[in-house]
Amino acid sequence: MSRPVRRGLLALALLGMAAPAAFAQTFPTRPLSIVVPFAPGGPTDTVSRLVAEAMGRDLGQNVVVENVGGAGGTLGSNRVAQARPDGHTLLLHHIGMATTPTLYRRLPYDPVAAFEPIGLITEVPMSLIARPNFPANNLADVVAVMRQRREELNYANAGIGAASHLCGLLLMSRVDAPMTTVPFRGTGPAMQELLAGRVDLMCDQTTNTTEQIRGNSVRAYAVTTPQRLPTLPDLPTSAEAGLTGFEVSVWHGLYAPRNTPAPIIARLSQSLQTALRDPRLIARFAELGTAPVAQDQATPAAHRTFWLADIAKWRPLIQAAGQYAD
Ligand code: MLT
Repeated sequence: MSRPVRRGLLALALLGMAAPAAFAQTFPTRPLSIVVPFAPGGPTDTVSRLVAEAMGRDLGQNVVVENVGGAGGTLGSNRVAQARPDGHTLLLHHIGMATTPTLYRRLPYDPVAAFEPIGLITEVPMSLIARPNFPANNLADVVAVMRQRREELNYANAGIGAASHLCGLLLMSRVDAPMTTVPFRGTGPAMQELLAGRVDLMCDQTTNTTEQIRGNSVRAYAVTTPQRLPTLPDLPTSAEAGLTGFEVSVWHGLYAPRNTPAPIIARLSQSLQTALRDPRLIARFAELGTAPVAQDQATPAAHRTFWLADIAKWRPLIQAAGQYAD
């Protein structure tokens, strides 16, 4: 090989090595968008807005939240699966990323291969609540009313695969009484219907229920965690209230479309970690009954391991139930 050709190849190789780092240094070049696959005003929206604000401070760009609700979070996920993989369009989604791959057999995207995990964010407790005039003073009363009125009762959720759907399924199976489910594009709008007394019950994340419970605008019966929450000290755990095996919490993570360059994923993960240490975010999470994950969980590798393990955990349960979204 002649010397000029060798030099040319070396220059190209060096350029190739330098390109990703330079790419990451210039990223982001414009405002970012975090797609929330549920309606505004619900728990995923709340977590996303706090993360978007804190990441925006770190990245020096606005991070805009875009709500694309419907079909249990799969419409918004599809939007990100089809987005340009340049790190400017992200998805913030929850436990539904572990259940929809099995629940939905005809998705227009590959629910695992279409995304690059960036990092886990938080794990949020859930709470069982009812319309303000629901005729039950405690969880034992709720169980009695469910067994007596069965499908006459309306249970609000955010569609098949949503956390509120999973929590409702668990409740109905523990009580052995079905209810009529009423799906919304998110539990933000579902909460409005509950407050207006047009649906009976809902199980939702404390990021959406804490303020309503404290303000006595809904009836609250239990938190679905092994311990009581410091933010809702008077609310018993489901086990204390007499219903064992009714425990569920909701993890959240941030994703980019497949083929987003690794240096950009690394920059986004670093920014997420910074956001999760932001005192304003931590304080607001605490008021809503949750906390950021440990820093080593807000990484692509930890997120991928956790996500794939959760898909494997849910798959046999969903298959055994034989209930699919299609
Ligand atoms: C859920 O039930 O999965 C969530 O509450 C949906 C939402 O964030 O609105």
